[in-house]
Parts: sequence; structure tokens; C-alpha cells
Amino acid sequence: AAAEKDGYSSFMLKEINEQPLAVEQTLMGRLDQHGNLMLDELRIDESILRSVDKIVVVACGTAAYAGQVAKYAIEHWCRIPTEVELAHEFRYRDPIVNEKTLVVAFSQSGETMDTLMAVRHAREQGAKVVSICNTNGSTIPRESDAVIYTHAGPEIAVASTKAFLSQIAAAYLLGLYLAQLRGTKFPDEVREVLRELQEIPAKIQTVLDAGGEVTDLARRMSDAESVLFLGRHVGYPVALEGALKLKEIAYIHAEGFAAGELKHGPIALVEEGQPVFVIVPSPRGRDSLHAKVVSNIQEVRARGAITIVIAEEGDEAVTPYANEVIRVPQAPVLLAPLLTTVPLQLFACQLADSKGYDVDQPRNLAKSVTVE
Ligand code: G6P
Repeated sequence: AAAEKDGYSSFMLKEINEQPLAVEQTLMGRLDQHGNLMLDELRIDESILRSVDKIVVVACGTAAYAGQVAKYAIEHWCRIPTEVELAHEFRYRDPIVNEKTLVVAFSQSGETMDTLMAVRHAREQGAKVVSICNTNGSTIPRESDAVIYTHAGPEIAVASTKAFLSQIAAAYLLGLYLAQLRGTKFPDEVREVLRELQEIPAKIQTVLDAGGEVTDLARRMSDAESVLFLGRHVGYPVALEGALKLKEIAYIHAEGFAAGELKHGPIALVEEGQPVFVIVPSPRGRDSLHAKVVSNIQEVRARGAITIVIAEEGDEAVTPYANEVIRVPQAPVLLAPLLTTVPLQLFACQLADSKGYDVDQPRNLAKSVTVE
């Protein structure tokens, strides 16, 4: 078993480290070095794809957070209203779905029963279903109209890591494809993202190469009883995913919040010594989100929080209020989740490991939940 782990202490740590390759393989054959996009597997009539007036993402767990990230990108590039719904909620509330709805099911295993039932329900209503899946020939892709496989390789650890980044990459390819097919208000940005996506595997590697710092931090924080995560825009689902990882494998009470919501409630939780991770958007973003999140760091710090800030290289505005700064390479705003998630995965993995837990097989959880 040690050999299968390539010398890593767990499959999860191995899979975190495989992410540059997982994303690269997901882009391979679909995006060439000139930024041309080919998505031949999207076997749905172009006329139908042009007439889609709503996208609904259905998924569970980590896959649903990948869907939340994708929503920001797809709505921006394509101007198609995009909802993300937990598959088990979707199915039972009589959702509005018809021939003009494109349902996108995200599932690493392709066997999650809740997601499969949502897919069946959507198709019964006449919707087309595309699945984004990591397991060849599994049930969800077989029951979908088309599938975009994530080529992350088998994921063994229960807590999903490389599948998450690959799902985001695959969903972005779908969004960029629809933007090109249907036209976009932001052709320059779409071209830029197609170019920049290819730089992402190397940038993930840069984050991993600096992982020693995160490991030290995780060891020092192994007694934490509660950890909060704040993020805004695409950083919000990243915060949710960071919190989920900590719950799943380190059994620590953790919550992710939209940073803008802080003053509407969560700030009441902050007392002396409360660790708070803050995912900071790029200062090169279009609007003032960066300044707003920096002031959130200041606000929680003023109430005694220990602030662990994930920020772009060169973003010096965060340093006065950060107890710790974890750097990620610069990237377009919508690509940042492919980088900022990585330290959060490492943190949870190393913290659980330093507590002596079985990182790969956390209590009460299954890799794939094949019952409703
Ligand atoms: C289970 C796993 C999670 C996973 C979720 C969805 O709950 O423990 O890690 O995110 O299922 O799995 P799927 O295979 O559909 O992506």
C-alpha cells in the first residue's frame, strides 16, 4: 500500500500533489496551445445549445462547490442564468425544468444516487443533461445526453481534492465553449482565460512547492476547536470547500461564509484567538472587492481573530492585518479558485494527519454514496 501512495503518507496527500497533472490532463486534447477549444464530446445539437435559457447544476458535497464556482464564470461569460442546487433538494421540490434547460451534473464517482435521481428527473422533464464525471462508464454519464470526463485519474481518498479542481476546469471549458458558440460580451476575456488556463498546472505546482509553510501552520494549529473561512465572489465557494475539508477529515467545527455577510451575523462568532482564513480576491480585479475583503480581515483581527490570509503574490495590502499570509501566483479572477483551494486542502490534510486520524478514510463517510 505504501508503494501505491508513491511515498506520501496518505492517498489524499498524493492526490493533492497530483493536481497539476489532473488539471493538465483535463485540458489536454480540448485546448491547444493557440487557445483553440474543441469539445467534441458535447454531443448535443448546436441549435439546442443555442436555445438554452437556463443552466442548472446538480451535485452533492465537494462537487456542488465546484458547481458554485462554475456559476460565477458561466453567467459572466455566457449570460445564461445558472443555478446550483444540491441534487437531493432539486429532485423533491418540483423544479422548473424544460427543453430549454441544460442540466449539468457534477460527480467524481458517477454513482451518487442523489445526483443520479436528479439527472433522471431532469431528463423526464425534457431537459438535456451533460455530466462532468471522473469515472469512465459510470451510471451518471451513461444516463446523460453527453459527458465531459475529468481526467484526474482514480481518486481513492474519501475527501475529494483533484476531482474538485478538475471539475472546475471541465466546467470552465463548457462555459467557454458556450460563450464562443452563442457569442459573449467579453471576447477578450474569454481569449485571455483560454490562454491563462494553460498556465494553471504550473501555478498549482508553485503553490504545492510552498506547501511546507502550510504544513507547519497545520501542526501549530492542531488544537483549534473551530475555524472560520471567509471568501467573496469565487472565493466564497472556496471558503465553503475549505471548511468542508476540515469537517470531513479533521472533525473540527468549521464554517465558510461569504465575506460580505460577516457584518450580518458571523462576526458575532469572532472572539480572542478564533482562527479565520480569508481568501482575498486579486487586487487587479475589476471592482472594489479586494478592498472590501481587506477591510473584513481588519474587522475580524480587531476582535481578536488569528487571521490566515490567502493572497496573490505582490498583494501587500493584506500584510498589516494578517497573522499568516499564504501566497498564490497571480491569475485572472475566475481562475483563482484553482490556486486558492490548494492550501486549504493541504491544511486540512496535514492537520488531520498531525492529530493521528486516518486521512483517507474518515469516520462515518463513504467515497461514494449509492443510496438516497
Ligand atoms: C460523498 C463523498 C464526498 C463527495 C460527494 C459527491 O459524500 O464523501 O467527498 O464530494 O459524495 O460525490 P461524487 O462522486 O458525486 O462527486
